Amino acid sequence: MKKTVLLKVDPETPDIEKVRVAARLIRRGGLVAFPTETVYGLGADALNGSAVLALFEAKKRPLDNPPIVHVCGVEDVRRVAREVPPKAEALMKLFWPGPLTLVLKRSRALPDVTVAGLDTVAVRMPRHEVALALIRESGCPVSAPSANLAGRPSPTLARHVLDDLNGRIDAVLDAGPTAVGVESTVLDLTVDPPEVLRPGGTPFEALKEVLGCVVLNPAVSAEKPVPAGPVRSPGLKHKHYAPDACVVVVEGELPALVKKVNELVAYYVRRGSKVGVLCTAETAGSYKTGVVKCVGSRSDLGSIARSLFASLREFDMEGVDVIVAEGVPLEGLGLAVMNRLRRASGYKIVKAI
Ligand code: TXA
Ligand code: MG
Repeated sequence: MKKTVLLKVDPETPDIEKVRVAARLIRRGGLVAFPTETVYGLGADALNGSAVLALFEAKKRPLDNPPIVHVCGVEDVRRVAREVPPKAEALMKLFWPGPLTLVLKRSRALPDVTVAGLDTVAVRMPRHEVALALIRESGCPVSAPSANLAGRPSPTLARHVLDDLNGRIDAVLDAGPTAVGVESTVLDLTVDPPEVLRPGGTPFEALKEVLGCVVLNPAVSAEKPVPAGPVRSPGLKHKHYAPDACVVVVEGELPALVKKVNELVAYYVRRGSKVGVLCTAETAGSYKTGVVKCVGSRSDLGSIARSLFASLREFDMEGVDVIVAEGVPLEGLGLAVMNRLRRASGYKIVKAI
């Protein structure tokens, strides 16, 4: 087991000496978790194949699912991509730094393991002073998947990173909670029209406004698992975001939604399960049984995105067996929230009508 060093830094003006300690570890092939505006990432030098391999091992991540490569400036994209189409230039100008990942044709400078043998690379520039300082000081593009064990909810606090990876990585830069709470939107620009492979912190509506024509990969809003066979984003086919508890998502309009949640809670309680209810500010008062957690407000879907993963982890800490989760509208950040919830549930979706 390694000793994992905890480096606490201010999110806006990080102590550069601590960032340099972390950057030195990255340059030497080590693994450092760091905050981004979305979730905590686990960084390794993207140009160092054995460092990236160690990253897969620390996370127990399947080798066919490549992490996102992080850069600290638009110019650096050319270090990892061999083609930067005009649409990419326009999107980078508008959305970077920020929660938008672009899939581009890869550069040959990247080791195969960094892109899991694909001909493309997913790249983004995060909107977080600590992440940007770390990448700059490391002097290399930084491969960084979310800093959780594969399959678990992504970490939005350094505490979550340690719960999953303490002793398996070299250091964690702790700058408090992340602002967005769900991962970046992954947009494939190697196809026409561009295709969203994973909904995330940049709303689909915002991309539509800029690109005009952009489509959602069918798996994004799927209500059942994507069929086996070749999928374009390897991450789509793996189990994801799942707490230890079993999750059931209830979808529909209020007030039918509340009625159905209460029915399910009563059913699971009767069967002797410890039940959690994941609900919203508008509905929290309607639930009297089980461990009730309000995840945010329906009038601000961003608030729900921000605390979704932490709430799933809290239910586990409280030993809940079943989580009955309210669905939210598939608009704005709601699309990312629902994609995570449906996948966390293994597509156990109940419609309230
Ligand atoms: O917000 C985020 O994106 C966070 C923070 C740390 O930046 N990172 C993150 O990385 O979520 P990760 O590795 O957990 O998720 C990367 C996603 C996966 O779904 C993966 O399959 C997809 O991006 N991906 C990576 N490279 C790809 C490629 N070349 N083509 C298609 N999809 C790709
Ligand atoms: Mg992940």
